[in-house]
Amino acid sequence: MKQQKIVVIGAGTMGQGIVQVSAASWYPTLLFDLDHAKAEQAKDNIAKILSSLVSKAKLSEEQRLQTLALITVSSNIEDCIGDIIIEAIVEVMEVKQKLFSHLENINQPTTFLTSNTSSLSITELASGLVHKRRFAGLHFFNPAPLMKLVEVVTGPETSPETINALTDFVRDVQKQPVTCTDSPGFIVNRVARPYYTESLKLAEEGAADIETIDNLLQATGFRLGPFRLMDLIGNDINYAVTTSLYNAFGHEPRFRPSRIQQQKVLAGHLGKKTGRGFYSYD
Ligand SMILES: NC(=O)c1ccc[n+]([C@@H]2O[C@H](COP(=O)([O-])OP(=O)(O)OC[C@H]3O[C@@H](n4cnc5c(N)ncnc54)[C@H](O)[C@@H]3O)[C@@H](O)[C@H]2O)c1
Repeated sequence: MKQQKIVVIGAGTMGQGIVQVSAASWYPTLLFDLDHAKAEQAKDNIAKILSSLVSKAKLSEEQRLQTLALITVSSNIEDCIGDIIIEAIVEVMEVKQKLFSHLENINQPTTFLTSNTSSLSITELASGLVHKRRFAGLHFFNPAPLMKLVEVVTGPETSPETINALTDFVRDVQKQPVTCTDSPGFIVNRVARPYYTESLKLAEEGAADIETIDNLLQATGFRLGPFRLMDLIGNDINYAVTTSLYNAFGHEPRFRPSRIQQQKVLAGHLGKKTGRGFYSYD
């Protein structure tokens, strides 16, 4: 078992995956969610995934038991004391800022505070903190257990020690860290934006239906077509990222959020996590 304790806040799509990654590399890992049932459910989901890996001979029974034993869950924020804290809650600036202020108060000044945000400014997230030097973005991709890349995002006051500690952690959980400075969408989400926005425009214009667009792009080598990918990411998250880039770039038309995706969000058709998005998942 590793010495450093990891705390993951938010038991949704990303939090669950990050907890699995962390515990599988022998870090004692606490998963916190406001909703205790969600945290418990996330641990159950991880248990199922680990069992399926054992049945496919990709994991030993001993590794499964050790990984599960390292995961604890809580809905009491006062339990969120650790060495590295990874926040993966709703993509709303004020909610995240309030959470980080609280985490800073209850943790040692040596604790690294990180956000898995896809698009919010790391600089602004840290603006209310006393010790901004220990704050950074730690952007895992979905699904976290499978995706190798992690963006380590530096704010203007993030210290080199913080970046070193976080890149060491990322390597230790068998991922590839890429360091970048704080800018809208960081690297991947900015470069990837046209994949979604142009596909949404094609569908809006009636140029092709979503299945045709997905199949065509998959045939050219993409692992998932844009609509299947948006459903995997969550339409609420994907829409929030596009909106955030649109605002950050002074409403440049190339980042304009899509009306049909907005409708999906308003209707609660968020994708796989709600059973319905661009496709149905029954
Ligand atoms: N979904 C993706 O593909 C993806 C990829 C990379 C990064 N991200 C980022 O990760 C973060 C989480 O995204 P997600 O898709 O896992 O979201 P999600 O909607 O699946 O889960 C969010 C979780 O946070 C919990 N929560 C909300 N407010 C909370 C609070 N104040 N304290 C504790 N828990 C709270 C909710 O109960 C929920 O379980 C976002 O910042 C998002 O931008 C998402």
